[in-house]
Amino acid sequence: MLILGIESSCDETGIALYDSAAGLLAHALHSQVAMHAEYGGVVPELASRDHVRRVVPLLRSTLENAGKSLADIDAIAYTRGPGLSGALLVGCAFAEALALALDKPTVPVHHLEGHLLSPLLSSDPPVFPFVALLVSGGHTQLMKVSGVGAYELLGETLDDAAGEAFDKSAKLLGLPYPGGALLSRLAEQGDPARYTLPRPMLHSGDLDFSFSGLKTAVLTLVREHQDDPDAQFRADAARAFQEAIVEVLVKKSLKALKQTGLQRLVVAGGVGANRQLRASLDAEARRRRFRVHYPELEYCTDNGAMIALAGCLRLQAGTPAKPAGAFAVQPRW
Ligand code: KG4
Ligand code: ZN
Repeated sequence: MLILGIESSCDETGIALYDSAAGLLAHALHSQVAMHAEYGGVVPELASRDHVRRVVPLLRSTLENAGKSLADIDAIAYTRGPGLSGALLVGCAFAEALALALDKPTVPVHHLEGHLLSPLLSSDPPVFPFVALLVSGGHTQLMKVSGVGAYELLGETLDDAAGEAFDKSAKLLGLPYPGGALLSRLAEQGDPARYTLPRPMLHSGDLDFSFSGLKTAVLTLVREHQDDPDAQFRADAARAFQEAIVEVLVKKSLKALKQTGLQRLVVAGGVGANRQLRASLDAEARRRRFRVHYPELEYCTDNGAMIALAGCLRLQAGTPAKPAGAFAVQPRW
């Protein structure tokens, strides 16, 4: 079974071909980050228009790299939500129209399910069941994953997502959008002992998160240093922010493992690329003897491969494919 995957929920156009027997055959990605950077955030209308421009050339190159033609495709998986409605509509309309033309079924996929299952694309995939820490620009959740489609929400953010907190704090520190990765690089030169920021909800007793107060704490720190910004200040403030958010993410993940009695943790979503988060989780995993899996870096952020994989696993798990043609997106799914 050959599945075409299409991702267009935000500012990345991703196309992939996943074979149920041979695995991922090829994938291609276009990131719009540079285009949105001058506006300091994603401009939805520009995102939609750019998806329109990219989707056909990306499909062509993916087919070529895989040595396949349109006729080889058995089903088309695409991101149905959540995300920006205009951006989602491009991928959805393209997928449904192509499926109609090829007389093939479609598989609408939840974007977060794509992230959740993305570690299965690695050469050493985790086996079910596991706890997943999903940390992206739009979501922060802890899930118990018992199998494909068997997900239990254990806790989630009550306000900002972890990636959003990274990006907003980066902006406060004068870094360009999207600042998460830049902040983390700056933090590596920072002194962890100079400032201590609050660890929101660390002792709340549940598995929920809250990051908007942490962002406000960064704002207060920046204001206090407005008149004497020494060269080291930004790095030290970035480090203080990262120390706080990483500690909360790690402690809550440990709590989720304890609560579920599971011994495998999967980290997915863009913030999963963070080096300090990985180092800290790895150290805990060695100490407490659990396993931690990360998607390959290229599958951490948005991509088509995770959507093709999720579509394929859904079909294999018995989720019926949908006849092509009728289409609807779910921006707030
Ligand atoms: O999963 P993703 O690509 O998109 C969403 O579905 O949201 O995640 C993007 C988020 C952004 O907020 C970005 O700043 C953050 O992941 N991010 C990082 C790092 N790399 C990307 N945050 C912290 N450290 C990083 N190295
Ligand atoms: Zn995502």
